Amino acid sequence: MKILFIGDVVGSPGRNMISEYLPKLKAKFHPNITIINGENAASGRGITQKIYNGFIEAGAQAVTLGNHSWDNKDIFEFIDSANYLVRPANFPTNTPGKGMVFCRSLGQEIAIINLQGRTFLPPLDCPFEKADKLIEEAKKRTSIIFVDFHGEATSEKQAMGWYLDGRVTAVVGTHTHVQTADNRILPKGTAFITDVGMTGPYDGILGMDRNAVIKRFLTALPVRFEVAEGRSQLSAVLIDIDQKSGTAKSIERILINDDHPFFD
Ligand SMILES: [Fe+2]
Repeated sequence: MKILFIGDVVGSPGRNMISEYLPKLKAKFHPNITIINGENAASGRGITQKIYNGFIEAGAQAVTLGNHSWDNKDIFEFIDSANYLVRPANFPTNTPGKGMVFCRSLGQEIAIINLQGRTFLPPLDCPFEKADKLIEEAKKRTSIIFVDFHGEATSEKQAMGWYLDGRVTAVVGTHTHVQTADNRILPKGTAFITDVGMTGPYDGILGMDRNAVIKRFLTALPVRFEVAEGRSQLSAVLIDIDQKSGTAKSIERILINDDHPFFD
C-alpha cells in the first residue's frame, strides 16, 4: 500500500499545483491514499469549505491542518461535517473538529492523526501523551497509522519520530515549509521526515511575498504578508507500506519546481 502526502498547500499557487500535478503523481506512483496538508490553502491562512471539497474531489482521502486551522472563519461552518478533515488532536478538549480520522483502502482502515508541536508555537496539550492515547485507540481498528506532526522545531519533530518508532507507520513533519533531506525508515519500521516542505510559490519566502518579509527583517515594523506570485513548487513524500504489519518499507521525497522538473 502506498500513501502520498503533499506538504502545506499555500494559497492559489499551491492549489494550482495540486490541480496540475496530482493527476500526474497518481498516474506515476499509484498511491492508494492521498493526504494533503491544507492549513495555508486559503490565501496562506486557513481553509474554506470550497477548498476542502476541491481537495477531496481532486482525489485526496484526507486533509490535515495545523496552527492556522482557525484563521478563516469559514472553518466553523463546515468542520463538524467534514469527515476527512483532521485538525491537531492536542487542541483543548471541546475544540470543534477531529484530531484523528479513518479512511479505507484495499479492505483495510488507515488512521490519520494530526498533532501540533509546542516549541515556538502556542501552548497546547502534550502532543506526545496525546499520541499515546490516539495510538491505543487506533490500534483497536488498524495497524496502519499515519501522523502529520505540525511543528516549528526540528528537534521536537525528530523526538516525535523516535518516540513513535515501531508504533506507527509514519511520522511526517509539516509547518516549516522547507523540505528536509532526512527521509528514512527508523529502526523499528516507522517512516520519518523532519519536514515534507511546502506546495506553493517557489520564489517567495516560505510562500509569502519576499519583499514584505525582507522589509519586516530590515525595519521590524508590522508588515502584512501576502502569498507570493510567480513560479510554483510542489513538495511531497511517497510512503510504501507493508500492509500486514503496518510498518513502512520506504519513504521517498518528491519535489517539483523549475530546478527539479517532474518526469512522467
Ligand atoms: Fe503551520
